[in-house]
Amino acid sequence: MTPIIRPDWWLPESAATDESIYRNRREILKALGIGSVGAGLALSGGLPAGADTSDLYPVDRNPSYAATLNGRPMTSYEIATTYNNYYEFGTSKKVSANAQKLTTEPWPIEIGGLVNNPMTLDFEDLVRKMPLEERVYRLRCVEAWSMVVPWSGFPLRELVKMADPTSDAKYVKLTSFLRPDEARQQYRSRWPFPYVEGLELAEATNDLAFMVTGLYGEPLPKQNGAPMRLTVPWKYGFKHNKGITRIDFVAEKPTTFWMTAGPAEYGFFANVNPEVPHRRWSQATERDIGRRGQQMETQLYNGYAAQVESLYTGRDSGRDIFF
Ligand code: MTE
Repeated sequence: MTPIIRPDWWLPESAATDESIYRNRREILKALGIGSVGAGLALSGGLPAGADTSDLYPVDRNPSYAATLNGRPMTSYEIATTYNNYYEFGTSKKVSANAQKLTTEPWPIEIGGLVNNPMTLDFEDLVRKMPLEERVYRLRCVEAWSMVVPWSGFPLRELVKMADPTSDAKYVKLTSFLRPDEARQQYRSRWPFPYVEGLELAEATNDLAFMVTGLYGEPLPKQNGAPMRLTVPWKYGFKHNKGITRIDFVAEKPTTFWMTAGPAEYGFFANVNPEVPHRRWSQATERDIGRRGQQMETQLYNGYAAQVESLYTGRDSGRDIFF
């Protein structure tokens, strides 16, 4: 990833959005018949994404994933939707306006590779099949900032079950859209688009691996990866690819976007570890963008060690699984 050139004190002052406020706001808009179009515009100042699925939200929170760790507040909707990484739309954090150019309806998704049930279906059909829930997760970017947000979505494991991988499938490869007419950086830049990420099959079926379709009780805004993005909260944020259009089950480890763009700096696993520095900066601490960049100590596996440590037992605990 490019060096961090932007200090984080430019962030607007903002308190976390109290849960009762965002839930009420959503229910009131629904009752008024304004729905997601009005709500999205009112909340983000941008065009809403996935208006056809707005009736699905808000969804019930799964209390097993509600802990924010040490009483840390959730990051406000305003900050979570205006401080983003989305290289298809630019390399600054202010990509939300550009990202509105992405057409997200229709959004065909292909599921294929080593599976018994290959399929192509529209995002709307997929999301309506899936058991939706809300989870509050921490997100730790490799650039040493972090936030806490309530995502809506479904466990990736449910999609894996539906695809029914064969015994040869060892990895899941997730590919984002390639539409240079809408994402001009895909024409201009030297980056190896489309954005690709990957997980071992056991990682993809871990309880925490979550396919995100909403945020703060709303369909996912475009700048956050509409209509569908991944979150694997024990790994650095660059593993969480946005705008996913293809999911393949494969035998070989996929080469990811960042493994191609910066092979000396980014590996496949990217598990959060405060003791393993990036080649150009420390990972020991992080700046909480929801609290005006307040410094915090980074936790092993971003605080999710109990849930994921067993995925890596018996492996080299050095740079391998943390790079
Ligand atoms: N997905 C795509 N397609 N393109 C990107 O540039 N950036 C990643 C990830 N997913 C990125 C992406 C990085 S580096 C981070 S930290 C998270 O998105 C940021 O997610 P957020 O903007 O919702 O906070």
